Amino acid sequence: MYVLGIETSCDETAASIVKNGNIILSNIVASSLKEHKKYGGIIPEVAFRMQLETIAGVADCAVKEAGIRLKDTDLITVTSGPGLLGSLLVGVSFAKAASFGLGVSLLGVNHLHSHIYAPFLGKIKARPPFIALVVSGGHTSLFYVKDFDKIESLGATSDDACGEAFDKVAKILRLGYPGGPLIERLSKRGDPKKIKFSCSGTKKPLDFSFSGIKTAVLYYVREHHGLRTMDYGLTCDIAASFQEAVINALIEKSLLACKLKDINTLVVGGGVAANRRLRERFYSAVENSSLNIYFPPKEFCLDNAAMVAGLGYRLFKKGYRAGLDLNVDLN
Ligand code: KG4
Ligand code: ZN
Repeated sequence: MYVLGIETSCDETAASIVKNGNIILSNIVASSLKEHKKYGGIIPEVAFRMQLETIAGVADCAVKEAGIRLKDTDLITVTSGPGLLGSLLVGVSFAKAASFGLGVSLLGVNHLHSHIYAPFLGKIKARPPFIALVVSGGHTSLFYVKDFDKIESLGATSDDACGEAFDKVAKILRLGYPGGPLIERLSKRGDPKKIKFSCSGTKKPLDFSFSGIKTAVLYYVREHHGLRTMDYGLTCDIAASFQEAVINALIEKSLLACKLKDINTLVVGGGVAANRRLRERFYSAVENSSLNIYFPPKEFCLDNAAMVAGLGYRLFKKGYRAGLDLNVDLN
């Protein structure tokens, strides 16, 4: 069964053909990131204008690269939320028009749930139930995944998302945007034990908070750096110490969720899961335990449409369908 996935929740315009839920025949991602870099963050109007211009071409490219024809697809599945309103509308409207024109079934999927599905593209032994951690630019959440249509939220960030904290700290350190990969690169030359940063406590044990640590970095920079001249060695130490503290919080809460739910499978997805130090630390945290941990390949941590097509396939098999009244869902 061929599924066309469409993903336009943030700045990417992505389309993919996935066969039977895990065989990726094509995976096209067009990004307007270059346009946003000069502003130091995503500008929604810039994103959705680019998406409007590129969506048809990107979908066409995905179909051609898969070696099929558009009318061979059995299902069109699209990210219906959460995300940027205008961006989501471009994807959903395109998917509805294509579904209507071709007489092909339609399905909308939740963006965070598709990040959870990303490790299941390809061959993977894990299956539900499991605990999922989604760490992206817009969200940081822990889920109990009983099945792909029974996903219960266990906790989430009460302020900034994890990727957002990486982006803001990179801005404080004047590194550029997006901050995650830049902080990761500098951290390799820094000492993660040099500065004692830590993430704030939360009322609920499985929630997260990242705004306090971001402010702590700002004060540290003001005090030790001076805002005009930035010492390279110190910048690396700040980046490494910040990154380490964030990873500590993610590991601690994820392992706690596994313990509380008595689950020994943990899945991690979203843009921040591309971070190598994070992966290494998670692997060593579970080394001498019965816990198994799964990450998507790096390219599927970031926003892509293969995970949308894969999850859509699983839900379709369970009987889920959308009508032409499908709308975006910002929650
Ligand atoms: O999942 P994603 O592509 O988009 C959203 O759904 O938000 O995640 C983007 C976020 C950005 O905040 C970016 O800084 C972060 O993921 N990110 C990273 C790394 N690569 C991307 N954070 C830490 N380390 C990385 N290597
Ligand atoms: Zn995402």
